[in-house]
Amino acid sequence: MAAAADGSDPARPFGDRLRRAVGIRHVHATVTGRAGLTILLRALRSLAAEGRNEVVLPAYTCYSVAASVVKAGLTPRIVDISAETLDFDQRHLEDADLSRTLAIVATNLYGLPNDMPFLEAFARQRGVFLVDDAAQALGAAVAGRASGTWGDAGLYSFDKGKNVSAIDGGAIVTSSDAVAAAVAREMADLGPPSRKDDVALVVKAVVYWALLRPWLYWIPQRLPLGLGETRFTTDYPLERASRLQLGLAATMLDRLQEFNTARVSRATALLEGLEPAGAVRPIRPLAGSLPVYLRLPLLAASPLARDETVRALNRAGIGATGSYPTSIADIPELAPTAGAEQARFVAERILTLPTHPYVSQADLRHIRSVLSGTHPATARSREADNVTG
Ligand SMILES: Cc1ncc(COP(=O)(O)O)c(C=O)c1O
Repeated sequence: MAAAADGSDPARPFGDRLRRAVGIRHVHATVTGRAGLTILLRALRSLAAEGRNEVVLPAYTCYSVAASVVKAGLTPRIVDISAETLDFDQRHLEDADLSRTLAIVATNLYGLPNDMPFLEAFARQRGVFLVDDAAQALGAAVAGRASGTWGDAGLYSFDKGKNVSAIDGGAIVTSSDAVAAAVAREMADLGPPSRKDDVALVVKAVVYWALLRPWLYWIPQRLPLGLGETRFTTDYPLERASRLQLGLAATMLDRLQEFNTARVSRATALLEGLEPAGAVRPIRPLAGSLPVYLRLPLLAASPLARDETVRALNRAGIGATGSYPTSIADIPELAPTAGAEQARFVAERILTLPTHPYVSQADLRHIRSVLSGTHPATARSREADNVTG
């Protein structure tokens, strides 16, 4: 980041706060998380031996992760997950041929940390880089160490709907001087953000603020805003973060603890209300981890039950979603891959519930009653189903 006209570095307050929050040596602010992951992978590539062009990804994750690999000029190598934890299935990882692997990327979905002690030892033993992508897990920890700080480098996102949001934004973090220097080399030629980007940021901030109100949840379902949409695209800019983004991210970081506490208390209340043999089951957090529950992921008994539950929750005004619609192994732009059965199972059955601070006690009661089948809307639709057959 170039110094401002007054000589100050606009990235410094943001970098200092993030360094303190997670305990890391180097922070590089990026325009988005996916731009950050693209730059980080290019940097790691510059440090590795020839022929290491594959990046191991979990078969169920955000499409942007796969897009970042492709945009970095590398090839995703997809390894199946465990439907119990959403983490890599360790047996599949151990069986994989890693002779062309550059890095393994762990993605800590919904703020539930992956088994980073295992992955760190495994990556070191196999001589590949490990990226702790904590785009969804800022503030989480495993064995007392912050998510994002495991392995060789980590990533955070400050996109809409993240633990703290600057509407758009990301950060690459590392405690390795060599990785930090390689990232700095990759970022040296990035252009400045356009003025248009800052105007767009302000507009998005206003729209996002309005849509987060629970009583306006219906809007994103009806307007073509592209919010919550999952599509595979490598068409995103690699440019420097703007002063506005950096200022917003620095301010929001001060509220990380407050937001995460709110999310964890809502997720805990919902988990405690789940019936042991009920319609949905929770994802098991790693023992010794501190999840931050960016959203609460649950698995329904069948694809049909998932779709019905999401519809019933939406009817009750709750912003439940089915999350990523397919395994990344089924993204048409990527070469088809076998061995993603658990990821496909999850894609058809997962639903995620909102945990953000605007979710009220009344919302929590609605969610509980929908999940237990006692919400009036659910009961009515069941009666209608029985009548029609
Ligand atoms: C695990 C993971 N990594 C990377 C990204 C990319 O972050 P951004 O949306 O800021 O580009 C995301 C986006 O949600 C993500 O979920």
